[in-house]
Amino acid sequence: MNDALRWITQRRSVRQFTGGPVPQEKIIAALQAAMAAPSARNLQPWSFLVVTDEKTRAAVAKAHPYAGFAAQAGAIILPFGKKEGSKWFDQDMAAATENLLIAIAGLGLGATWCGLDEALQERIRPLVGVPDDLYLFALIPVGVPAEEKPARTQYDEARVHWERYRG
Ligand SMILES: Cc1cc2nc3c(=O)[nH]c(=O)nc-3n(C[C@H](O)[C@H](O)[C@H](O)COP(=O)(O)O)c2cc1C
Repeated sequence: MNDALRWITQRRSVRQFTGGPVPQEKIIAALQAAMAAPSARNLQPWSFLVVTDEKTRAAVAKAHPYAGFAAQAGAIILPFGKKEGSKWFDQDMAAATENLLIAIAGLGLGATWCGLDEALQERIRPLVGVPDDLYLFALIPVGVPAEEKPARTQYDEARVHWERYRG
């Protein structure tokens, strides 16, 4: 299997962490991968907030009903940007976020994409000083994995239509 397929299939949601620190150079390498993503007109609407401070991590973890495990992560990355007037914002942000997750797996770290709706964004913005006009796209706990998951594709032939839709 080539390297790209290997790391794409190896990327799994990791929710258990040793609590060990995440080296800053690995975070930067993962952010380089995120910012290599395609974006409409190459507008790159993304920015990334990296939280390593223990107290802030705990507060952010507590604010999300399905991301409590973020308190044990070494870092939390929040991709964000100005959504207003940016027609392709969600697609661009998703491309960068997936690149980020694949790179994190390739760097021997673990992470999980945790979704943020408007209400959750409202709770988290003040904790990290992000103003109301910026959209927090996702909450990504990143840490040293304390669980191992098998690589897999979930490939399903029934979902592939060759040449024409066949109902
Ligand atoms: C938009 C989105 C939101 C998600 N939100 C959460 C979440 O709030 N908490 C969580 O533990 N996992 C969350 N996940 C992770 C999914 O549960 C996970 O990707 C899915 O079960 C497939 O498992 P895998 O990532 O190991 O392939 C989210 C994933 C996506 C793409």
